[in-house]
Amino acid sequence: MYRSHTNGALRLANVNEEVTLAGWVQKVRDKGFMIWIDLRDRYGITQLIFDEERTDLSVLEDAKKLGREFVVQIKGTVIERQSKNSNIPTGEIEILVSELTILNASKTPPFTIEDETDGGEELRMKYRYLDIRRNPVKNNLIFRSKVTQAVRNYLSSDGFIEVETPYLIKSTPEGARDFVVPSRMNEGQFYALPQSPQTFKQLLMVGGMDKYFQIVKCFRDEDLRADRQPEFTQIDCEMAFIEQEDILNVFEGMTRHLLKEINGVEVGDFPRMTYDDAMKKYGNDKPDIRFGMEFAEMNEVTQHKDFGVFNNAELVVGIAVPGGNSNTRKEIDNIIKWIKRPQVGALGMIYSRCNDDGSFKSSVDKFYDQEDLAKWAEITGAKQGDLVCVLSGDTNKVRAQMSALRMELAERLGLRDPKVFAPLWVIDFPLLELDEETGNYHAMHHPFTSPKPGQLELLATNPGEVKANAYDLVLNGNEIGGGSIRIHDKQIQATMLKHLGFSDEEAKAQFGFLMDAFEYGAPPHGGLAFGLDRLVSILGGQETIRDFIAFPKNNSGRDVMIDAPSPLDDAQLTELSLKLNLNK
Ligand code: AMO
Repeated sequence: MYRSHTNGALRLANVNEEVTLAGWVQKVRDKGFMIWIDLRDRYGITQLIFDEERTDLSVLEDAKKLGREFVVQIKGTVIERQSKNSNIPTGEIEILVSELTILNASKTPPFTIEDETDGGEELRMKYRYLDIRRNPVKNNLIFRSKVTQAVRNYLSSDGFIEVETPYLIKSTPEGARDFVVPSRMNEGQFYALPQSPQTFKQLLMVGGMDKYFQIVKCFRDEDLRADRQPEFTQIDCEMAFIEQEDILNVFEGMTRHLLKEINGVEVGDFPRMTYDDAMKKYGNDKPDIRFGMEFAEMNEVTQHKDFGVFNNAELVVGIAVPGGNSNTRKEIDNIIKWIKRPQVGALGMIYSRCNDDGSFKSSVDKFYDQEDLAKWAEITGAKQGDLVCVLSGDTNKVRAQMSALRMELAERLGLRDPKVFAPLWVIDFPLLELDEETGNYHAMHHPFTSPKPGQLELLATNPGEVKANAYDLVLNGNEIGGGSIRIHDKQIQATMLKHLGFSDEEAKAQFGFLMDAFEYGAPPHGGLAFGLDRLVSILGGQETIRDFIAFPKNNSGRDVMIDAPSPLDDAQLTELSLKLNLNK
């Protein structure tokens, strides 16, 4: 028996018990005649005491050899502490050690294993196994496990069947590049790792599984950000004989359950917003609705004067920043500098101060009088003490810029409270999206998404206008899930692929298996997938998913601990027929 208790278990009630503990040395305090050691494991910290009068000399000598992160086993007696520590659950007792076994020595760790460590990100990633010993990382992983468990329980008890789908597949387009795996046995041929199990879950519906879920790894070769990893986990779900309303209800129920069970937060019915409204009011299809600052379109109240910047703009849009009039000129200049950064790309910003006496002072007083500025305040909902910020330009660009500004100002104002949860469904997405560079349309969700009823004909005449049976679940400004009602008719799927630029041959080669399946009684079906990493991190009050992944990749897609990706040796390249191909 390595241990009778964990390091988080012992209390005053255990005094006088003989115990065996094991764990890592967190801290050594050596007073010569007396040594205290904090012994740590996943469950907590227990203080050990060795002293000249009560401990065997040889044990005391061994204790003097211990350093940080040594792994030890001790036997001893639980005693009441003289000076108690109310900060930890075991703070009223300590263990008077009688036997000490060093199970393993440790080099001095490259950073401190403390909640606040001196290790930088890169170093901590290289020694991630040490980082995981730290409470913040450890707790995030435990939190993730709790969420995953709650999801499994919820879906299983609602009749969903967990089915595993293959990882070595053929491309499933979700808008990113594929990671590919060469096949040794099929020279010159490659598998793709799934960007999602999309086609397989649809085939499971054709197979009659009715309600499927899977907690599954997905792989996407795309540019990385705080909320994106090249391999990430989805809670992937699909249901047959359902309509959009059914899907929204089931997964709203699950999300509400998680918020209650994990965060103790009760939320009412999730609001629903069309994609068009989201873009108009927030400039974004994943609006953070924990706070206001909704966009006001201001063309009518700005384009009647001689101000060319506004007159020539497709869209003039403003927001009211609560309490924003308290910003000094310098602070406002700072905001302007922020939105002019290349990442945001605005050319400038016009503002109007709403003074406490009801007057206004704008950066364009030359063009606009008090009456005009009163209208600006009215249309944006600005009150005395607020600041109206106005941007102008091409609709899409200016919406994106204003959206970035809104989020930044909300952050600065502390309005993005991680303990407040504001879920929202965004519905009625466009079916297709125009790629500005190539001029081609591609599926906004994926090519298996069905158009809204009655919109199929529009595909031929006005593809950009067609709306899809597609929906996203947004939580605190993050897209935590997305899905759609699928096409289950071969002919419609073929038409859809044609509009996406696939020739008949290409469609057959890539998706023939799915369209064939549609000919054998495919039921109406649909589903969605949550991004588990995102869901967990937001429930955990953070937005960087890396912190909730045991072994994440860095921003260049590298695992710096195992040093991957890495070159293959010649023999392996030859075996995979890659050497030849590369030299061709
Ligand atoms: P979608 O592509 O919207 O839909 O993905 C579903 C959810 O997965 C999360 N997500 C990611 N999380 C971390 N890193 C990434 N690189 C990443 N990419 C996506 C997001 C997103 O909402 N097959 C469809 C689902 C369906 O139609 O049922 C799909 O994959 O939270």
